[in-house]
Amino acid sequence: MDLNLKDKVAVVTGASKGIGLAITRALVEEGARVVAGSRRSTPELAELDGVRVVQVDLSTAEGPADLVAAALELGRLDILVNNVGAVSPRLGGFLEVTDDQWLQSLTLNLMAAIRTTRAALPTMLAAGHGTIVTTSSVNAFLPDPLVIDYSAAKAALTNFSKALSKEVGAHGIRVNTVSPGPVTTDLWLGDQGMAATVGAAKDTDPGGVAAQVASQAETGRFTHPEEVADLVVFLASDRAGNVTGTDFVIDGGLNQSL
Ligand SMILES: NC(=O)c1ccc[n+]([C@@H]2O[C@H](COP(=O)([O-])OP(=O)(O)OC[C@H]3O[C@@H](n4cnc5c(N)ncnc54)[C@H](OP(=O)(O)O)[C@@H]3O)[C@@H](O)[C@H]2O)c1
Repeated sequence: MDLNLKDKVAVVTGASKGIGLAITRALVEEGARVVAGSRRSTPELAELDGVRVVQVDLSTAEGPADLVAAALELGRLDILVNNVGAVSPRLGGFLEVTDDQWLQSLTLNLMAAIRTTRAALPTMLAAGHGTIVTTSSVNAFLPDPLVIDYSAAKAALTNFSKALSKEVGAHGIRVNTVSPGPVTTDLWLGDQGMAATVGAAKDTDPGGVAAQVASQAETGRFTHPEEVADLVVFLASDRAGNVTGTDFVIDGGLNQSL
């Protein structure tokens, strides 16, 4: 299937590894040019042709606009993928989550997408076309006290995307979210990831934590970042030309309700 993405310009946030790296790679494979934002580069990101790496802290007020400015130097902006995010398990329960922790979570998981979208949208409005795909999470509608601040931030992120889709749909701009369940990235499986942190607290090895989580999905496994990337790239393409204001769950059947 030709996704007609050749020479389109995309901004991807949180692009150095995990889901963002897979999205960047998939876009490049389809012929798009990608402006990729994260604090650090990685060898995997640096080796991709057609990618401009911008090292930027997207939790700052000015970082998102700096990233978008780098894309606008290429003369157009067709696709925005708001992917950056992070989670910290709150092992001590709600009462131990400080204001600073809430604000950090809300800033990176919600405000970074709002600020990047604010910076990108005027160019899309002027062009009369554009697509915005945002990585939310099943925690947006499966709230979990272990990740209480992350869940609230992702719920707000999905809500924000839906509201924005209503405002800009008539201007040729589509806005959608994808909501993954557990994905095989550092967020879950890295040295500082969910499985290691929760495992250390429960005196269980990280592999055991991950296996237990995987068993909750009907498929019995985590999603792979490339599988999320395929969905995102399809939504970003004209092939999804009448798809907007929608959330796409990719969780191996973890969510039990319709
Ligand atoms: N993995 C899952 O199970 C899962 C499930 C549902 C939703 N998600 C969502 O998917 C998205 C990607 O997650 P992932 O699993 O791919 O995570 P990951 O492997 O930890 O990658 C996170 C990416 O974000 C970048 N990043 C983190 N903080 C940043 C900051 N302050 N400024 C700029 N870049 C920053 C990281 O690069 P640097 O550290 O170099 O900055 C990295 O490129 C997130 O929104 C996450 O909430 C993940």
